[in-house]
Amino acid sequence: MKVGIVGAGMVGSAAGYAIALTGGASEIVLVDYKPALAVAQAEDIAHAVPFAHPCRVLAGDYDDLAGATVVVLAAGVPQKPGESRLSLLSRNAEVFSEVVARVIKAAPDALLLVASNPVDIMTEVALRASGLPPERVIGSGTILDTARFRTLLGAHLGIAAGSVHAYVLGEHGDSEVLVWSSARVGTETVARFGAQLGAAITDEVRDRIDAGVRQAAYRIIEGKGATWYGIGAGLARIVQAVRNDQSSVLSCSIVTPEVEGVQDVALSLPRVVGSKGVIGTLAPDLSPDEAAGLRRSAEVLKETSARLF
Ligand code: 2OP
Repeated sequence: MKVGIVGAGMVGSAAGYAIALTGGASEIVLVDYKPALAVAQAEDIAHAVPFAHPCRVLAGDYDDLAGATVVVLAAGVPQKPGESRLSLLSRNAEVFSEVVARVIKAAPDALLLVASNPVDIMTEVALRASGLPPERVIGSGTILDTARFRTLLGAHLGIAAGSVHAYVLGEHGDSEVLVWSSARVGTETVARFGAQLGAAITDEVRDRIDAGVRQAAYRIIEGKGATWYGIGAGLARIVQAVRNDQSSVLSCSIVTPEVEGVQDVALSLPRVVGSKGVIGTLAPDLSPDEAAGLRRSAEVLKETSARLF
């Protein structure tokens, strides 16, 4: 399976690296408006391949995306310290439509995987510019926030993050919703599990984990300028679900007909992902506060996209 990546900066190259290490592709093509950057990143990633799965890693132009099954869109500028994702809107939306048009011309059958921020709005931009059906234009959305939630819950409970089933839904950004009400380890809610193990989920713990997830990108950007490893792995996970037609349940973003009374908005819900893209969406059973939070998140995104379209 061939995977294209447009944007060979930190996010695009981390995605390429993670896809190579996890055997997500037999060929990876990196495209960037700075060709020398794409060449250098491709060469660097190629040197990891002997330690992983066989894969050709190349730099190329848009035409070289022909035949790609998935194209990851990671072009655009990242946040500056303290800046929100939504404030990137005008800068990234401008270039994005043009990038998508060039990708679709070269690879009309590709599934688009959007990583650029603000990712939910960019998913809508990509959908409109591509003319593809919504289930084939997937934003990484809250796949990363869900990973952060599971990591922090796992650390608090002393359980492998992979055994914690918990989701972050809505915007990949400030209004996202941590779904505590259905967060589980095995058969138990995290509250019951924590109480049994002497690791109670007190209000203080909830607030700390909520801030830990919601503020993660701000903290990391403050320390190293951008985030890339987590999102790179999240993108590779989606590619793997597509490649192996896994029907995996992942929190990711597509334009959705109706969410808590808000129409046609791109945001994250638990989605079933396989080779055809998003093949199903779970309707989460939320507490009243979580449902209100999801509605607010949908409204924030709807108001933001109304400024563009
Ligand atoms: C992140 O959450 C900045 O959206 C990026 O790491």
